[in-house]
Amino acid sequence: MEIINSVKELKEKVSALRGDGKTVGLVPTMGALHAGHASLVTRSVKENDATVVSVFVNPTQFNDKKDLASYPRTLDADCALLESIGATYVFAPSVEEVYPEPDTRSFSYPPTDTVMEGAFRPGHFNGVCQIVSKLFMMVEPDRAYFGEKDFQQIAVIKAMVADYVAKDTDWAKRLEVCPCPIVREEDGLALSSRNTLLAPEERAIAPNIYKALKASVKYSKTHSVEETRQKTISDINAVEGLEVQYYDIVNALSLESVTSWDEADHVQGCITVFCGATPIRLIDNINYK
Ligand code: PAJ
Repeated sequence: MEIINSVKELKEKVSALRGDGKTVGLVPTMGALHAGHASLVTRSVKENDATVVSVFVNPTQFNDKKDLASYPRTLDADCALLESIGATYVFAPSVEEVYPEPDTRSFSYPPTDTVMEGAFRPGHFNGVCQIVSKLFMMVEPDRAYFGEKDFQQIAVIKAMVADYVAKDTDWAKRLEVCPCPIVREEDGLALSSRNTLLAPEERAIAPNIYKALKASVKYSKTHSVEETRQKTISDINAVEGLEVQYYDIVNALSLESVTSWDEADHVQGCITVFCGATPIRLIDNINYK
């Protein structure tokens, strides 16, 4: 495994791979890697001749500067993990390397980027599209892997890629976006780099989020969408130290809210919860059908 810091070197390495007829998988990350990230990398290693993992805390997607400052950074441990699971290249650039000048591009794919996280974190998905499009252009991967933990992020990225395909962009036409299932702790908490920021008492109550989501799937069999939504919110808010920011039950493809269970073939519940006094913002989601 090799660690690359410059865009020029990254492009040289991947074009050499492609020249040899090799397929390339890309796994974009912000580091502080855990088994969730590892599952994406392991899948890419299986499905491609070479795997590039980017480790870059992208400043343009943080609408909250304190969140950016406190984001965990553990590059040495990340590289050790990536080497052990077979990554080919780690791309770990500086902010100046990625953004030699401010990125003024704006991306807009409503409703995917305006609802839920888009409404509560203004500018967040614009920053995600900036960095992910740059990575796609640098690596031109055959496949790119994203976790369903960030369910909405996948919908936004798929919309962005479709837009580039509509504009007849070669890298987008070849690219396959591959969603991967959520990896959880044994107690149900979705793995997240932010979990390391939880105090022990916060970590202890956080699994109640997934517990309520799972219970809501059973409840949904005999109740309406709105009843299910309200029950999930009140179950979680009943736990001292947890506070739901939003819970939306949506068409899994368009991300528009549904009012009845028959309204869409695939229905997903997407939640954001504040945990503890700091507070730490945790997201999760569950499939209803
Ligand atoms: P980050 O939060 O580091 O996540 C990198 C990838 O790992 C994302 O696709 C995310 O959905 C996936 N992931 C995180 N936790 C997971 C879990 N418990 N199970 C499965 N997959 C999980 O998402 C980002 O970084 C950034 O927005 C990025 C796409 C890298 C752009 O900066």
